[in-house]
Amino acid sequence: MSLLELTGVDTYYGQSHILHDVSLTVDEGSLCALVGRNGAGKTTTLRSIMGVQNPRSGTVRFDGVDITDNDPHQTSQAGVSLIPEHRRVFPELSVEENLRLGHLGQDVAGDRVASLTDQVFEYFPRLEERKSQQAGQMSGGEQQMLAIARGMLSDPDMLLIDEPTEGLMPALVEKLRDILTRINRDGITVLLVEQNVELAFDISDYAYIIDEGENRVDGPSEELKQDDEIKDRYLALG
Ligand SMILES: Nc1ncnc2c1ncn2[C@@H]1O[C@H](COP(=O)(O)OP(=O)(O)OP(=O)(O)O)[C@@H](O)[C@H]1O
Ligand SMILES: [Mg+2]
Repeated sequence: MSLLELTGVDTYYGQSHILHDVSLTVDEGSLCALVGRNGAGKTTTLRSIMGVQNPRSGTVRFDGVDITDNDPHQTSQAGVSLIPEHRRVFPELSVEENLRLGHLGQDVAGDRVASLTDQVFEYFPRLEERKSQQAGQMSGGEQQMLAIARGMLSDPDMLLIDEPTEGLMPALVEKLRDILTRINRDGITVLLVEQNVELAFDISDYAYIIDEGENRVDGPSEELKQDDEIKDRYLALG
């Protein structure tokens, strides 16, 4: 069953027409990848889903409900969590305070908060060790983990993750690959935007390639992974 469904989405920034008739479906329980060159419209797609930049036409349905015109808070309440690019954390606040912001205003019951917190500390033991440290003093990798952990604390059914491995050392990229796979196996549906196409194809079930704000190719990741022509045409740098 599809959990998220975009149909014919057109999104603009002012006069700039960025997404053209974008459609995609993410099955419940799956890990879906969205890839494409710089400027292809990946972040805009996630923002369109979340309601940061609402589509001008087309529809976004989540769990059967039309959320096209939602604002981000409503989308979050509906069960979607966006982990934006560039690992945005509140640098002045401690790790614990950042985590608390993840469930603030989300109607997550107290005992559920406790079990979600236990769970993210199990995924990211480093965060528990550093829970009273200022987030801005942690490494880039730790801040990315904190951004993901914070997103998990709203108790989402679906995570939208924008380039989590950007700028991370290879060892941390490997760790994130494991964590994303685990989060998905533990029952959260994931839409992953990644520049690291090999990683994205490796861990996803299905993938969409967009270019110039339009759908180009989609299919089982296993198949796309082996298609060098597609990779050269839509994913090569430059
Ligand atoms: N706030 C904005 N106002 C106007 N144009 C924007 C804005 N944000 C992005 N764009 C333009 O929209 C297009 C798509 O950008 P988007 O950020 O969605 O691409 P992306 O696929 O996420 O790229 P990247 O891989 O670099 O993150 C680009 O041409 C970009 O210049
Ligand atoms: Mg982007």
